[in-house]
Amino acid sequence: MDRISFYWKNASVDAVGKDHGVSVKDLKALAPRIARITKSIAEGRKKGEFRFRQLPYDADMIDSINREVEHFRDRCDVLIVLGIGGSALGNIALQTALNPYTYNLQSDRTRTGPLLFVLDNVDPDVIKSVVDFVTPRLKKTILNVISKSGDTAETAAQFVLFRELLQKKLGKRYTENVLMITDPEKGALRKVTKEEQYRSIDYPAGVGGRFSVLSPVGLFSAGMCGADIEAMMGGAADMDKRCKELDIMANPAAMIAAIHYLLDQRGKKMSVMMPYSSSLYGLADWYRQLWAESLGKQDGLRQKNLFTGQTPVKALGTTDQHSQVQLYREGPNDKIFTFLEVERFDQRPIIPDSLKHVSELEYLAGSTFQKLINSEKAGTEYALLKSGRPTTTVVFPRISADTLGQFFYLYETAVHYMGELLEIDTFNQPAVELGKKATFAVMGRKGYEALAAEIAPVAVKDKGFML
Ligand code: PA5
Repeated sequence: MDRISFYWKNASVDAVGKDHGVSVKDLKALAPRIARITKSIAEGRKKGEFRFRQLPYDADMIDSINREVEHFRDRCDVLIVLGIGGSALGNIALQTALNPYTYNLQSDRTRTGPLLFVLDNVDPDVIKSVVDFVTPRLKKTILNVISKSGDTAETAAQFVLFRELLQKKLGKRYTENVLMITDPEKGALRKVTKEEQYRSIDYPAGVGGRFSVLSPVGLFSAGMCGADIEAMMGGAADMDKRCKELDIMANPAAMIAAIHYLLDQRGKKMSVMMPYSSSLYGLADWYRQLWAESLGKQDGLRQKNLFTGQTPVKALGTTDQHSQVQLYREGPNDKIFTFLEVERFDQRPIIPDSLKHVSELEYLAGSTFQKLINSEKAGTEYALLKSGRPTTTVVFPRISADTLGQFFYLYETAVHYMGELLEIDTFNQPAVELGKKATFAVMGRKGYEALAAEIAPVAVKDKGFML
């Protein structure tokens, strides 16, 4: 197996100085706490807690995904994933990482699965464009509706619209074009699933949205589009072994958390993830949700009004060298950077040597785009180092189902360690829940009248504040 590696030399005091880096002494001082966390996680797992850690071993769940992929594969030209946040970001990350940039433009012959649209929003223009696109293709359009709660307004609205479209075209048989992934008992979408007898897979119990990519949530659409689910779970299981190590120096999740924690305490309030690969950009988006929703907490487990959380930022190499790096080098030194680097890209286009005679372009002649993108990463890392900015790097030997499985598992575990170090509840998201309820109230959902009355006076369109 190609293992991903985590490098932290350029976040060390030797590289960026004692105010901006971590030392082996710092890490050793934190090691006993880390070891206690590792032990308590292991004990919790034995009692059935932290269910996301068990997903790679859930053979029944993997069978149910494979069964549904098998069932739908030949009857699906277009797959529409209806979901948002944790019920969509993993799907997007997997699709962009594993399939070519031009996937949806390829012919049916070359594409490894159906056309895929993951809505992840309720932008009316986007929705209408997808509606227009699928209207002549409804017979072989499958809706994969994903919602843990089964009540989220965005997903429910998307579903009502596409359900009606299918029903008008296919009549009663439209139900055959739906796969629901939701709570086995609760929520409006489960109610409709039971009433209308859709095929469904249970949203795994005890697994939050942002920890759900390695479950039917992320894996059904990935499997439909050609991903090797077994390899992905194999990668995740391999990372699990590495993340059980008591020794912080051998446990990459503990190490990522420790470095971020120590630097957060020293004022690095932002965490930038910068893949040097467009295919991996979706991972940075996924990471943003994981880090923000898990760590951005007002109250701690022991202390109120902590207001914790590093702000996660996504950037893209090399693109953002021409947009953000000025700030990253000369703006406030309040960030820790994580590069994602790919050692061997699948494709190796060569830069032709036809302009070799132009002296300024000679260095490019006959070289590869892989060499260029990785040289630019090395250049940016060096430039940040010169400005005393701490950087770490996750190296992917290749982008594959198994390295992605490793990555997702690594960061889900790392954020758990980080939450334990910060002494917060990593797995709740009370602030998101309030926003969801407020949407119900503003939209006029029954039972939310009192909240609607509270919201009305804070509406932004107050003429007293209009220019
Ligand atoms: O991580 C989370 O819990 C959230 O981002 C949810 O995934 C998101 O709000 C969607 O919720 P649901 O899956 O209940 O529709």
